[in-house]
Amino acid sequence: MQLYQELLCTLFLIWAAVLGTDAYSQIPLRSETDIGARKVAIIGAGSAGASTAYYLRQFADYSDIPLNITVFERSHYVGGRSITVDVFNDPRYPVELGASIFVSVNYNLMEAAKRFDLKISGAPQSRPEESQAMLGIWDGERFVYVQSHSMTWWDTAKLLWRYGLAPIRTQRLTKNVVGKFLNLYKPPYFPFQSLSSAVVELELHKATAVTGAQFLEANGISDSFSSEIIQASTRVNYGQNLGLIHGLETIVCMATDGAVAIEGGNWRIFSGMLDFSGAKLALNTTVTSITRNDDDTLTLSHITNNSPPSETTFDDVVIAAPYQSSGIEISPAFERVPDKIPYVKLYVTLFASPHQISQAYFNLSNQNEVPEMILTTLPKGVDLGSREDGVGPTGFWSISLLRVVDALVEGSLQNHYVYKVFSPERLSAEFVASILGVDSPAESENTTIGDLPSHHVSWFHEKTWHSYPYEYPRQTFEESKLERNVWYTGGIESFISTMETSSLMGMNVAGLMANEWPEILRPSKRVSWSRWFEQRNTEL
Ligand SMILES: Cc1cc2nc3c(=O)[nH]c(=O)nc-3n(C[C@H](O)[C@H](O)[C@H](O)COP(=O)(O)OP(=O)(O)OC[C@H]3O[C@@H](n4cnc5c(N)ncnc54)[C@H](O)[C@@H]3O)c2cc1C
Ligand SMILES: *[C@@H]1O[C@H](CO)[C@@H](O)[C@H](O)[C@H]1NC(C)=O
Ligand SMILES: *[C@@H]1O[C@H](CO)[C@@H](O)[C@H](O)[C@H]1NC(C)=O
Ligand SMILES: *[C@@H]1O[C@H](CO)[C@@H](O)[C@H](O)[C@H]1NC(C)=O
Ligand SMILES: *[C@@H]1O[C@H](CO)[C@@H](O)[C@H](O)[C@H]1NC(C)=O
Repeated sequence: MQLYQELLCTLFLIWAAVLGTDAYSQIPLRSETDIGARKVAIIGAGSAGASTAYYLRQFADYSDIPLNITVFERSHYVGGRSITVDVFNDPRYPVELGASIFVSVNYNLMEAAKRFDLKISGAPQSRPEESQAMLGIWDGERFVYVQSHSMTWWDTAKLLWRYGLAPIRTQRLTKNVVGKFLNLYKPPYFPFQSLSSAVVELELHKATAVTGAQFLEANGISDSFSSEIIQASTRVNYGQNLGLIHGLETIVCMATDGAVAIEGGNWRIFSGMLDFSGAKLALNTTVTSITRNDDDTLTLSHITNNSPPSETTFDDVVIAAPYQSSGIEISPAFERVPDKIPYVKLYVTLFASPHQISQAYFNLSNQNEVPEMILTTLPKGVDLGSREDGVGPTGFWSISLLRVVDALVEGSLQNHYVYKVFSPERLSAEFVASILGVDSPAESENTTIGDLPSHHVSWFHEKTWHSYPYEYPRQTFEESKLERNVWYTGGIESFISTMETSSLMGMNVAGLMANEWPEILRPSKRVSWSRWFEQRNTEL
């Protein structure tokens, strides 16, 4: 009973939301070269790029290799898809706009957070208890599942009756799959030349080659638990139903033990990693091309703000962003470039309101029955499972109450509720009005949240992301090494797309580079991977 209860409580510590911009000053690129140091360019200052720099520095120090690292970032901040925005522009109220949650088995993020002394907060405590219902799963007509803050024995009994052994089987399966995945962090697998081969050796291809629906069925997990509970998790985390998303990413959605976030924003981890690495950081700087020279060095063209393009030459280049969205021209062309894959287009709408989500919209009779986190699934009998536009009758993926903030309205303080909505389309003013239970603005075409009066919506922020790939079943993944001295982290996103896995890929690329140093540079100390990880584990 106890296990069952804990399980259901932890099942849904799902990604929340925050955002913030940094005031980094740009370090100008100088043109003089330092003889002797290996020059590495990293394109992208998200989790992958920051982790590449962080681990390269550690491995280089271990091997006594002088390294000069430059990180190019086209936007004005560090963090990529990890970014916070401040409600009411008030720095007391940062909320995540992109990646919001990581979990305790995310070794790289946990280690870095600890090293940089960042404050970790459990995601759920930061949420207010405004309602009796913590979580509800809506199918467009009714809640198929509701979980209250305090579960009674009666709630547990009802669940046992409804889902039987499925939750426990899911937990066992998750443990088993996560255990296999964690081998990628240590020798003999780390650093892996080919993710595709490592996946087969670890038998994880059995999970990636089939859909979530097939994988769960093959593991004896009932259809009712899959479609009512697990699918709500794949929808909020990846905007995909079980008939599309592969089995491994499905399991990742259920691995929510110890869900946490960094206070003030997860981007602080990546900012800390870059500081630690001593890399030069070039913000507002877009790399437009990579050209291989006769002596095998690589010349990058880059543009900062509106200045004319400049060129800098490097020994190694790491592309730490999805290749297809980097816009980089390569000459001479590579024999093989990463395939273009479909990414989910996700609308994130953050807003503050004096109103709570209306019970009427969800056909509930009482305001305090409205769940603080509303996830969604498809209604029974509707099969959109394998479609990219599979949101179904609910029209949105999730609505969650993030926090309650002080709002100054006509000289007095009021409580305003801050919500985050994930949806496949931009929200209309009519939709926002209806979930808040207020009148829609006068009939006019294409109205959006900004058309609502400020006494209904006191603050909002809209963002369209290409957030993660549609995780179609597959068995092969893009290589870490694209060509001699050209490295790539984005291949991992079709396997698992999270901050931690991008960090793992950054560490892997750094490891592969370190393995080559003694051969291509000069005799130097080889990193003993087992010793290195052993030492790190004792420090953790
Ligand atoms: C709304 C949302 C919610 C999410 N929730 C979670 C979550 O809760 N937990 C979780 O773990 N993950 C979550 N994710 C996924 C997670 O954000 C990503 O998997 C991860 O951050 C990817 O990191 P990355 O470094 O590989 O890529 P990015 O963060 O995209 O970094 C790539 C960087 O490269 C830069 N760049 C690209 N091209 C160039 C160029 N030519 N020149 C210079 N710079 C360039 C980009 O500006 C960008 O900053 C979420 C994502 C979104 C969008
Ligand atoms: C980057 O550009 C933005 C304008 O797009 C500007 O506000 C910001 O100060 C710039 N940052 C740096 C570090 O150059
Ligand atoms: C590192 O490389 C950059 C870019 O080429 C160069 O401007 C800088 O002088 C080098 N740094 C050191 C410490 O040599
Ligand atoms: C709303 O709930 C009532 C009773 O709880 C039910 O009779 C009615 O059919 C529901 N309406 C919708 C649209 O589901
Ligand atoms: C409303 O949106 C539709 C579809 O995007 C577009 O065709 C139409 O022109 C828009 N109408 C107005 C008034 O902007």
